[in-house]
Amino acid sequence: MKESTAGIVCESFRMSSACDFKKKFGTKVLGARVYYLEETFSTQDIAKQLASGKTPEGTIVLAGTHKKGKGRRNKSWYSPPGGIWASLVFYPGGSLSPRIMTLAGALAVAKTLEKVFCLPARIKWPNDCMVNGRKVAGVLGESDGVALIVGIGVNVNLRMAQFPEGLSDRATSILAETGSEADESFLLGEVLRRFEGYYFKMNKGEPQEVLQEITLLSSVHGKIVTMEYMGREYTGTVLDFDSEGAIILRLDSGVQMRFENGEIKCSWQ
Ligand code: BTN
Repeated sequence: MKESTAGIVCESFRMSSACDFKKKFGTKVLGARVYYLEETFSTQDIAKQLASGKTPEGTIVLAGTHKKGKGRRNKSWYSPPGGIWASLVFYPGGSLSPRIMTLAGALAVAKTLEKVFCLPARIKWPNDCMVNGRKVAGVLGESDGVALIVGIGVNVNLRMAQFPEGLSDRATSILAETGSEADESFLLGEVLRRFEGYYFKMNKGEPQEVLQEITLLSSVHGKIVTMEYMGREYTGTVLDFDSEGAIILRLDSGVQMRFENGEIKCSWQ
């Protein structure tokens, strides 16, 4: 079947009924509409197109695999079958930044991995979820000025041997960490319920509890890190994250510096 939505032609574009999904996931908003594509270029692009056509808040676009999955900083995102590749549409009332939503998405994944699989999951600012020093999930928050599109990628049932060169020493999956296959749709529901809970709090203007949880699971909080930003490196201690998802460092000079973007380079993670 071929259908077209907002100019994107997709294969096997299927929409499932709203009630089924919210009930299945145990969510209030996420799953208002769910689109599933066996294969597409990037769920992120489709979710953006749907948002520009005013799809309801809570719309989810899921893919079995991406032909051109998108990561942060225009990197590609390896997304073969066996992962959760999902883009979520939100219309926050206030001034929620994509950065804090990204961190909240990483928190939802980390908490799920901790609670469901007893994995020592940590958040690495600005968007990574790590287990034992390797990346198990990544989150991509983007805004079109009205909608926030949050893409969540989780390596669920991927075997270590299948990661391509360049990723095999940095990535991991739930299967690799636990030794058993996980139920992707159960896992998705667990992540979505936590994530929308964080979203509701932050959208009410109450980000403190969420920030506290992010801090507790952060792999960089209190650590000395080197931040790469705009071609320069800054070394300092991580003091805090603010309600916009920016990170505050106290540099060796004693000066405090706030970064909205950047790359943390460190050997321990
Ligand atoms: C990163 O760590 O660089 C962010 C990765 C985000 C991957 C997800 S998978 C679902 C959504 N669709 C995409 O093409 N990318 C995001």
